[in-house]
Order: sequence, then C-alpha cells, then structure tokens
Amino acid sequence: MSALPTANRKLIEWVEQAAKLCKPDRVHWCDGSEAENAALCELMVKGGTFTKLDEAKRPNCYVARSHPSDVARVEDRTFICCEREEDAGPTNHWADPVEMKKTLEGLFDGCMAGRTLYVIPFSMGPLESPIRKIGIEITDSAYVVVNMRIMTRMGQAVLDNLGPDGDFIPCLHSVGAPLKPGQQDVPWPCEPDPAKKYIVHFPSEPSIWSYGSGYGGNALLGKKCLALRIASCVAKREGWLAEHMLILRLTSPEGEKHYVAAAFPSACGKTNLAMMKPSLPGWQVHCVGDDIAWMRVGDDGRLYAMNPETGFFGVAPGTSEQSNPNALACLDKNCVFTNVVLTPDGDIWWEDMGVPPPAKGLDWKGEEWTPDCGRKGAHPNARFTAPAAQCPVIDPEWQNPAGVPISAFLFGGRRAATVPLVAEAFDWQHGVFMGASAGSETTAAALHQAGVLRRDPFAMLPFCGYHIGDYLAHWLQFGKHPKADKLPKVFFVNWFRKAEDGRWLWPGFGENSRVLKWVCERVSGKGKAVESPIGLLPAPDALDLSGLDLPAEDMAELLKVDREEWKKEAADAEEYFHKFGAKLPPAIEQELQALKKRLA
Ligand code: OXD
Ligand code: MN
Repeated sequence: MSALPTANRKLIEWVEQAAKLCKPDRVHWCDGSEAENAALCELMVKGGTFTKLDEAKRPNCYVARSHPSDVARVEDRTFICCEREEDAGPTNHWADPVEMKKTLEGLFDGCMAGRTLYVIPFSMGPLESPIRKIGIEITDSAYVVVNMRIMTRMGQAVLDNLGPDGDFIPCLHSVGAPLKPGQQDVPWPCEPDPAKKYIVHFPSEPSIWSYGSGYGGNALLGKKCLALRIASCVAKREGWLAEHMLILRLTSPEGEKHYVAAAFPSACGKTNLAMMKPSLPGWQVHCVGDDIAWMRVGDDGRLYAMNPETGFFGVAPGTSEQSNPNALACLDKNCVFTNVVLTPDGDIWWEDMGVPPPAKGLDWKGEEWTPDCGRKGAHPNARFTAPAAQCPVIDPEWQNPAGVPISAFLFGGRRAATVPLVAEAFDWQHGVFMGASAGSETTAAALHQAGVLRRDPFAMLPFCGYHIGDYLAHWLQFGKHPKADKLPKVFFVNWFRKAEDGRWLWPGFGENSRVLKWVCERVSGKGKAVESPIGLLPAPDALDLSGLDLPAEDMAELLKVDREEWKKEAADAEEYFHKFGAKLPPAIEQELQALKKRLA
C-alpha cells in the first residue's frame, strides 16, 4: 500500500471508518493536481458523464447532464439534526440526531460498491486566513471532485496545512447508487427517489452527511452545507457571521472605494450584481464573491468580509452580454457546464444567452433539440462552474486573508409592488428588521407557485443552520459592539418593481450602479435623503439619473411609499414573525410596532 498523504490520525481513522461502511472498490486521496483533474475528466468522458467542448472554442471545458430527477437543491430533504428540536426553529426540518445517524448508516452501508471513494481535502477561505475552515469531503462522484477543485482550495496543500493534529469538518457524500458486480454504470448515477435523498447537518459535531444527489449544493458540500448551514452555527458560537451574501467593491471616478455586501434570495441576480458593469461613466465594480460572505469585527471596529469560495456556481439561463458580460467572460475556459444545450460544433447555449440559438443541438436531457421544438433547451437551473480568478473584474483583494472592510449591506428581493427601489435603515436595529422582513416573489422556475411572496430573512431561509429567531438576536447584538458606530449602513433595494401594466419600472443590471452610487454617498455623508415611514429615501435629485431615459412618473412610482400597501406589508410580516414564537427578539417586535405607528 502506498504511503498516506497525511499523518493526521483523526482523518486517517475517519477515512478508514467511511471505507468500512461504504465498501468502495478503491480509495483515492485527491492531491488537486492538474494531472489528477485531467485524468478524472477523461474518465468521465469515457463514462459518458462529460462531453468535452471544442478545444479551440472553449479550452478545457466540459458539459455534464444530470439525471432528470436530480436538478436542484432539495430543501424538503435537508435536515438540521441538533439535539433539541426547538433549536432548529420553524425554518428548518429537524430530525433526531441518533435516529438520523441510524438511518444514514443503513443507507451508506455498501453504497459505494463498485465505485471509487475519493477523499477531497478542501479549505473554505485562504489557507493562511485565521478564520478558514478545513473540510474533508468523501465522495464517490468524480464530478464532485472536479467541481470542488474549482469552487474551493483543494488538494495536498490543504492536508499539509492541516498537519498531524489539525481539525476538520467531515463531509460524507454518496450518490447512492452502488454497482453490482459487472453492472454497467450510468452517466449520472444518483438515487432517483426524492424521498431517499438526505442532506443532513449535525451542527454540534459538526459534520455533514449527504446521500442520493450529485447536484450542486446537495453534493458540493463546501458551499451551502459547510459555508452556510454549519458555518452559521459555528459563527454564532464564535461571534462572527456566515452569510448568503455577495461582496463587491464600488470605486468612484475620484477613486473613492467602498465594499458592499448584499443578500438576495436565490434567482434575484446576485451573480449579476456581484460583477456588474456600471452604466455610470467612470464608476467601477470589482467582485470579491457572488454567494457567501464570512464576516468578523476587526480591531478597528469595522466588519471585514471574506469570500470562502474560489469559484462561481452560477445559473446559466439568463446570463448574457446584457445581464452579465463579466460572467460570460469567466466562461471562456476551464469550466464545467451542467444541463445546458450542447451545440453541434462543440459549444454551449442556453435560453436568454443573448446570442441566436443553434439550428439544432442536444438539450439538457441529451435529446435532439431545435429552437422551435416547444421545449426549453437548458434546464432553468442549469449551471456553470467557473474559476473566480477568471473574472475580468475580480478584486485584487479577493484572497486577502483578513477580508475587506464592508461599508454597506443591501437586502433585496423580487417585489413587483410596495417596496421602493431603495431605502436606508434608520439605524442598525432597524436594518436588522429590514433584513428579517426580506422576501421575494417566487419565479416560474422555482418549484413553488409563481408570484407568491416567500419571506426569506437575510436570504438565509434555506441556509440558516439554527433557530432563525436566535439568528436575528445574533445580528442584533453586533449593534451593541463597543465600536458599533463603525458598522455598515443598511439598505433595502428592489430592482423588480413593476408598473400596473406589468412593465418593469427600473432597467436594472448596469443601471443599478446609480443606486450603489447613492448608497456609497450616504456612507461617506454626501448623499441626501428624506425620511419616510419605512426608512430614508433618496431626496429628489439625489439619485444620479444622468443619461437615463426614465419618465418622471416612473421614478416617482419607484420611490413611492403607499401607506395602505405598507400596512398590509407590516401585517404580513407580523404574521410571519409570529412563527418564531418566544424566540422572536423583542427588538424586532419593537421595530414592527414602530413601523405600524409611523404608518398610522
Ligand atoms: C445558489 C442558491 O445556488 O442560492 O447559490 O440557490
Ligand atoms: Mn446562493
């Protein structure tokens, strides 16, 4: 037997135990090298999981097609197994940790038969950062290995950094498709029965067990499972924040720089905003991250944010030269595309890519597809996995182990009515209330009925690993920090307001830079605001609308606060908050009553 690449006893023992349970044919410790990656890609091409794209068009890029039952995160099958049910709260599915372990051990017993067990050492955050967390994912999916290599710092350097005694978070994953002797494998093995998929978190250990799915957040365990659900629990214990937020830098023509972190529910254009091309001349946006921010108070009292990931796992449909030119530029090489259209000339296409569709191609199910066949070519949740370093506007500080200082937080969602384009919170407590009441109208692409308002506090609804009331209390206590005056200002934004005839009132995308400009002016004390019952709104003429052909009535509508609509909004939020029971922080109740009073 060849020597193991680590002397870490705890790790060696855990891998031995996992191998004993899962019974793979072989064990492979990933070193993260180019050669290893190339060999795995070739293996997947041979097995039909990957199709290599034309090397001249998109070097080192591959298309994968998932099983039709395995196309998105499975929130219904996601569990938080803390000891007491009341600690998981109303937004999580809880299961008894002892019972759940028994169920999982039954499922994992022999689940890797005929397969390779890959050991993936990965770090969330730069290795030299004091707040990085090392995870070890055990998986039987080569697709997971290749994607984790893009999304995280992965390989031998992580084992070296871990050393003989370092601690790590064990993440056990299987696609749940053992092979009988001689059984032919399929391109995308998984457990097709949704009721047999399990995405399970044990926050007190902490550890993660994921069974039955090979897709995205269900399988790339560093992302939603570790960096949000488990990290949010650890952050609560250790006094920091693990958030579903993008991080960007805005630079004015005079060179003034501000970092902004923003939380939006899934499908609200986070990746687009994170690397947007500002329409305002002379303004620049740089991207630090598009999905997750880990934040701590620095010695100077400011909040410092770090992106724990190294890649973008973005939704492909809708990504175009208009919506996100910088994302398109990331996709030139070294990417994995999942569930998109494969064109006959070895390239990719998806709906709303902003380029004409190919005359024919293979759709996300691998079936012959033509633009007029009546079916979508790409799955609405088709994804690209792209290295962050390839982003043309990646911020030079994006790997700074200390993070970057945040000047402002934005919360947002898709709201056709009621919520104005932008409003600033009166203070930290009001800002936490704004984040807590955030919500978004569901899109047709989601599983839910389209157009229904789903409250999504801090965009953490599917990602907070403990009681959401305790989570709000955690946010509130930052306001009591001795240097709380240095905390970011808080804003609510809504790019999605519609006119009565259904038209979008705001052009969005690069034009959102106008709102970002006002946000930064407010931070530096230059921006003018007027008070309204729901927060501070831009004073007339405070938003830079130069060069934008926007009728004055539309602008008025965008900044309108209709008291009657807002009374309904407050009543709806109140009903939602009642679900938090005794754990609703008194400060949130106070803010709610204060809002109702201001609206009366
Ligand atoms: C994501 C999500 O994939 O939030 O980032 O769903
Ligand atoms: Mn996300």
